[in-house]
Amino acid sequence: MPAKPPRTIATITKISRLRKRIAEWRAAGESIALVPTMGALHEGHLTLVNRAKRKATRTVVSIFVNPGQFAPHEDLNTYPRDMAGDLGKLTTAGADLVWSPDVDEMYPQGFSTKIQAGSASDSLETEFRPHFFGGVTTVCCKLFNQVAPDFAVFGEKDYQQLCVIRQMVDDLDMGLKIVGVPTVRGRDGLALSSRNAYLSAEERQIAPTLNQTLKSLAEAASRGQRLGSAENRAKAQLIKAGFKSVDYIVVRDAETLGVWSVKSGRPGRALAAAWLDKTRLIDNIKV
Ligand code: PAF
Repeated sequence: MPAKPPRTIATITKISRLRKRIAEWRAAGESIALVPTMGALHEGHLTLVNRAKRKATRTVVSIFVNPGQFAPHEDLNTYPRDMAGDLGKLTTAGADLVWSPDVDEMYPQGFSTKIQAGSASDSLETEFRPHFFGGVTTVCCKLFNQVAPDFAVFGEKDYQQLCVIRQMVDDLDMGLKIVGVPTVRGRDGLALSSRNAYLSAEERQIAPTLNQTLKSLAEAASRGQRLGSAENRAKAQLIKAGFKSVDYIVVRDAETLGVWSVKSGRPGRALAAAWLDKTRLIDNIKV
């Protein structure tokens, strides 16, 4: 007899029901891992789900396109959404629950408390998206309070986000562990991202240059070349390849995201954000 397809994953949209389900699991002695997402799931997200499943007995995936982290001129309204596709992928991946509140459930009338992100948010993304980390830390704090997980799993693709969340959890004594998972890439090195869906065929050809350029920068930095010159060369390389502009391509301390030098003996991280016409791509690699 052919195997029965698995039942579609349960979806909860109200906090009261979520709390009830979590309390039942806790009463049964289960542990919980949360994978926070904004949906439009790809292989990278499914890798996070697999990691979550290895960390805890129950895996909750949140799907919430968070208005709090988009500036008015950004792509909130056009951000890719595919709930039916996401539910299918999460069912196959064997997650246990989708937590998908609407905006009014997450931010009811009168909501006004915000988390101010710590020093890991001081530069890089914040110089170009000043609203971003306040929105991310606030929604993640709410998600952590709602789901009360033992673990929350984040991709290294958004490396500064991972550092900022780790800092928030440490600074505010939040009782969960943050798990970082290496970036999933296409064969040509392009980091998987929901926003890759915006790229034209021609832009998709150029996009992997971001990863290649980060690799040359990381190599130059680890050989002790002058960072300023190596970073300028990397920027010029991206523009030559067809990027319209480069927000940053730099090497920083892998933990604090402050200044790094090879002499420090500390791990470094090469990070970049650059525009292919209207699409902003980010990526980072170890130094
Ligand atoms: O990385 C993301 O998808 C989002 O920033 C997150 C962590 C789900 C918060 O909205």
